[in-house]
Amino acid sequence: MGFSVRLVALADPDEKNVATFTAKLHELGVTEAPDVYRGENDWQDKLLARTDVDAVIIAVPCDLHARMHVEAFAAGKHFYGEKPMCIELDEVNAIVQAQERNPEVRGQIGFQRRASTVYRDAIEKIQGGMLGDVFEALGAWRLSGSKPMGLPEDGTQVWFGRRKRSGDWMLEQACHTWDVMCWVAGDMPAAAYGIGKRGLFKHLDPDRDVTDVYYASVEFPNGMLLDFEHNWMCPQFDDRWKFGGISERFTGSKGGLSLGEWPPDATFYPRDGKDKVVKLTETFPNTTHESIASFYACVRAGTEPLSNVRNGRLATLTGMLVRKAVYENRRVEMREILSV
Ligand SMILES: NC(=O)c1ccc[n+]([C@@H]2O[C@H](COP(=O)([O-])OP(=O)(O)OC[C@H]3O[C@@H](n4cnc5c(N)ncnc54)[C@H](O)[C@@H]3O)[C@@H](O)[C@H]2O)c1
Repeated sequence: MGFSVRLVALADPDEKNVATFTAKLHELGVTEAPDVYRGENDWQDKLLARTDVDAVIIAVPCDLHARMHVEAFAAGKHFYGEKPMCIELDEVNAIVQAQERNPEVRGQIGFQRRASTVYRDAIEKIQGGMLGDVFEALGAWRLSGSKPMGLPEDGTQVWFGRRKRSGDWMLEQACHTWDVMCWVAGDMPAAAYGIGKRGLFKHLDPDRDVTDVYYASVEFPNGMLLDFEHNWMCPQFDDRWKFGGISERFTGSKGGLSLGEWPPDATFYPRDGKDKVVKLTETFPNTTHESIASFYACVRAGTEPLSNVRNGRLATLTGMLVRKAVYENRRVEMREILSV
């Protein structure tokens, strides 16, 4: 999919990742090599300072998101900022204020499901009453493999295994699910209960401190109850979906809707008969491509991004709520998160 943009510059201090990226550009037939900046602060001093840059893509470890997003707003550069929007409350507030101060800047938060034609159609149908009153949601990030992401051997990606840098899995990864849940429920949750385990991969990395297995029960103001599981230790079988998968499922008075990116799924199951099961799509487009394309489209048209700072805020606050509930192994209310 072509995006009709010129990539003029790239800022990244890691030589190896820069080389991988430029090789990829070459493979894609991009003949004009971008300028490369390698200093820690060059993203601000050199890249954002350029007058020929209209928009930037921010794809860095989560603890750097807030500063980069705020500075992109201040520099008047539209940005596609990878999810989660940020990982702490003061960062949420700083980004919301930066967007308010710079309403003309399009800040798109990288929740690709928001731009997915499949997800948008499915959630429109839920909101249009396809399921009746939605009382139950099930969410899962169940990952199989011999090792998890974020080990020291993973180069720059070791940050995934460090809570301070990633915000832990409730922020770094489950934020996708929280975003979908808040989208369906129309609001962020009121409370959550959690339980989890750390140290499962200590033998591979003694410094790893993220919560590789946890469960949460989440209550939304509209009455929807969410049961969520996150597990990096699923066994691998020929039938890989038996233990694994990334999905969001909703049950209402009229039936259920199963959504998922892995395996791709968008299926409606009515209460009154399996002959009436409806597959909402036959093809599942690449959601990341759809998301990036929608970013360039909104910048060109001057319209609101499909995933904006408002939904980025709700997903981050939900992740913080669940993180606190899991760490303290108790029921936590959203007002505790907001009043820190
Ligand atoms: N939307 C999705 O499905 C999805 C999937 C994977 C990752 N992500 C997100 O993308 C972001 C990046 O993840 P990744 O897997 O590419 O990590 P990565 O470690 O592979 O890449 C991050 C890059 O940021 C660079 N970096 C670090 N400090 C920098 C600085 N001061 N200036 C410029 N660059 C700097 C690193 O050198 C590295 O090359 C994260 O927010 C992650 O959550 C999103």
